[in-house]
Amino acid sequence: MPEQGREQWASRLGFILAAMGSAVGLGNVWRFSYVTGENGGAAFLLIYLACIILIGIPIVMAEFTIGRKAQSDAVGSFEKLAPGKPWKAAGLMGVAAAFMILSFYGVIAGWIVYYFINYLTGNLWTAPAEGYEGFFVDFITNPWHPLLWQFIFMALTIAIVYVGVKKGIERANKILMPLLGILLVVLSIYSLTLGGASEGLAFLFTPDWSALGDPSIYIAALGQAFFSLSLGMGALITYGGYLSQKEHLPGAAYSVAGLDTLFAIVAGVMIFPAVFAFGIEPDAGPGLVFMIMPDVFDSIGFGGGLFGLAFFFLLAAAALTSAVSLLEVAVAYFIRKFSWSRKKAAFIIGGIIFLIGIPSSLGNGILGNVTIIGDRGILDSMDYVASNIFLPLGGLIIAVFMGWGWKKADALRDSDFGDTVLGNLWLFLLRFLAPIAIFLIFLSSIGLFG
Ligand code: PHE
Repeated sequence: MPEQGREQWASRLGFILAAMGSAVGLGNVWRFSYVTGENGGAAFLLIYLACIILIGIPIVMAEFTIGRKAQSDAVGSFEKLAPGKPWKAAGLMGVAAAFMILSFYGVIAGWIVYYFINYLTGNLWTAPAEGYEGFFVDFITNPWHPLLWQFIFMALTIAIVYVGVKKGIERANKILMPLLGILLVVLSIYSLTLGGASEGLAFLFTPDWSALGDPSIYIAALGQAFFSLSLGMGALITYGGYLSQKEHLPGAAYSVAGLDTLFAIVAGVMIFPAVFAFGIEPDAGPGLVFMIMPDVFDSIGFGGGLFGLAFFFLLAAAALTSAVSLLEVAVAYFIRKFSWSRKKAAFIIGGIIFLIGIPSSLGNGILGNVTIIGDRGILDSMDYVASNIFLPLGGLIIAVFMGWGWKKADALRDSDFGDTVLGNLWLFLLRFLAPIAIFLIFLSSIGLFG
């Protein structure tokens, strides 16, 4: 029985759309492009794809199965299915990860909203005096402008969670996500005409095998796979918990993972040819999309600004549906655990997350000299810890919980796999390959095999 007063998705499509809306976001465009750029391109992409198929999809399935079975939030699901056992640590880490990830997600999404407004006013239709790169740097180093836009984006996120995820997002996902997909395809075709096509495609698709010797690209690929799939922190458990009727879970998992990966690859084909055409370094970091895309729109000539307007609008919408799923993980937990109303939880938790994000927001301006992990600034350090450590660790626990903590027959039945080859392969991946691979990648990232 679902808990009292819990929402349910309106339709079968509602769940898939919501899960896709969670998965497709800044991770596919902003994060995928800059992390791929920093990690040398094609070799990284290959490991990323392996992580998606061998580790990501099996854990997506585990989260869906746990969520639908338990009909509760990220922590409550474990408490319900395994009372008194320590598995719920994964859920608590997930809630912590939601706070961390949304804190900086709101900052980057704020940048996107700012760019949208600048295309709306026409300000960026032609290059400003200081150039597009200069414009970006001026903005992110300003003492308070990034904060304002982070605030606006977080207010929107809170407003949607406040009225309830179901009403808030099912409709937006149905219309805006396909539009974003179409726009990315159109822009990637255009980008291939800009003169950097061969270099850009080679960067993305022709692996430099020697890069595989660098342990840091494995953890980066693993973290990107988890981040992009919204995996390892109970977001998909939480959404699965709003599932009422019979849903074929494996089909849903393949669709979500497939679509999410497609978005990332198309975004890569859009960005990297342009990176080479306009002579920007692929490893320019988190500002990559902001520095490159305005050049692309500018080069379209008359009307190019409209593409910029649509691009930043649709990307902001995609970011919003992802941010909603992040906030929902924490909100659903607080509603149940402390019997808060949805409104109170959305407001308070969202507010706290905004505050936690302030240092990330100021990390290019007045806090610009602060580095935490290696030479990473505040935002990048948050991202690194949450995405590369918390998410995979949460995923590892979820994999072991499903693979070893459930009776095999129950797992096969509750996942809708049944006793099939795929079902058994799934359990094998959860039991052995995923946990061992995550563990080894952790070890290698702390230099154990170096
Ligand atoms: N997957 C989202 C994106 O790509 C981010 C996200 C991570 C959302 C974790 C929920 C949980 O933008």
